[in-house]
Amino acid sequence: MTPSKKKVLVTGLQPTAGIHLGNYLGAIRSWVTLQEQTESFFFIADLHALTLPQDPKQLRTKALDCVAMLLACGINPKKSHIFLQSQVYGHADLAWILGCMTPIGQLERMTQFKDKASRRGEDFIGAGLLYYPVLMAADILIYGANLVPVGDDQRQHVELARDLAVRFNGLHGNAFPVPEAFFPPNCARVMSLQNPSTKMSKSDPNQSGTVFLSDDEETVRKKIRAAVTDSGKEIRASADKPGMANLLQILSGLGGRKIAELETIYCGSTYGKFKDAVADAAVEAICPIGKKFAGLKDQESTLLEVVREGRKAAQLRADEILAAVREKIGLVAAGI
Ligand code: TRP
Repeated sequence: MTPSKKKVLVTGLQPTAGIHLGNYLGAIRSWVTLQEQTESFFFIADLHALTLPQDPKQLRTKALDCVAMLLACGINPKKSHIFLQSQVYGHADLAWILGCMTPIGQLERMTQFKDKASRRGEDFIGAGLLYYPVLMAADILIYGANLVPVGDDQRQHVELARDLAVRFNGLHGNAFPVPEAFFPPNCARVMSLQNPSTKMSKSDPNQSGTVFLSDDEETVRKKIRAAVTDSGKEIRASADKPGMANLLQILSGLGGRKIAELETIYCGSTYGKFKDAVADAAVEAICPIGKKFAGLKDQESTLLEVVREGRKAAQLRADEILAAVREKIGLVAAGI
């Protein structure tokens, strides 16, 4: 297989229930554009999900739901490789090889690990949680990724992938491009509608702060109308108005107009009218996705076919890179 001239983009999505407006404006929407300019590998990180206890039936459903959601959002299987991480052999093998080159201290210092491990005692903390960033490095390097679009919380993990690429290339000769974390421009950081000092999240106990892409029109409107706002009347994004700043950010993300422009347009308007405008824009962007998702969700054979095709292309690339890695480190190739 001749590698294409395009840059290689790799990113993974955890198969957790409920993709929300924050995921969409902060990530998935930009992937839809990026798939035109790159060779894109989008996968459901079902092996990463195993770092926390999972109900097997639900894990399966969540993974396929995520595939349906990617399709509903406009990721096109004719242009991109869409697949399940666990179906491509080699991620875990490369993670082992890379793990043997990773100082344990670097893993113990990872912010996400420290956060989670600090809850030891309350939650089960498996060794997989420590190893998580190595598996993520393998996910990235096994496709020879150049670009890795991720949220800010994953920056440190991509840094590890870069370190490992440099270390491996230095020790054994070039096997990997050094990947770059990519933060798409105009990417909105969406906060909870109920608590605008925390990020919008699917696991927020207060679900009215999170707009899911599968919410129906009435629910979207209700959640946005109930968003906490700040005292005062001005529609302005400032540090003392986190609720307004968040709604302005959302409207800007949805409609592409700058926040300053929106502040001028809505100057003198009321919170109520402004919220209606945000709700209109959200409904227009999200509800068609929710409807497509509802139509795809139960078409299991279509979803399985998409990941079967995605897997084929991904496996070819992974085999190629892993074979080169194995040879460089002195593992004897299996005679076929
Ligand atoms: N850890 C990422 C997250 O929680 C998901 C992920 C797994 C990923 N492997 C990856 C992202 C490789 C980018 C590249 O969001």
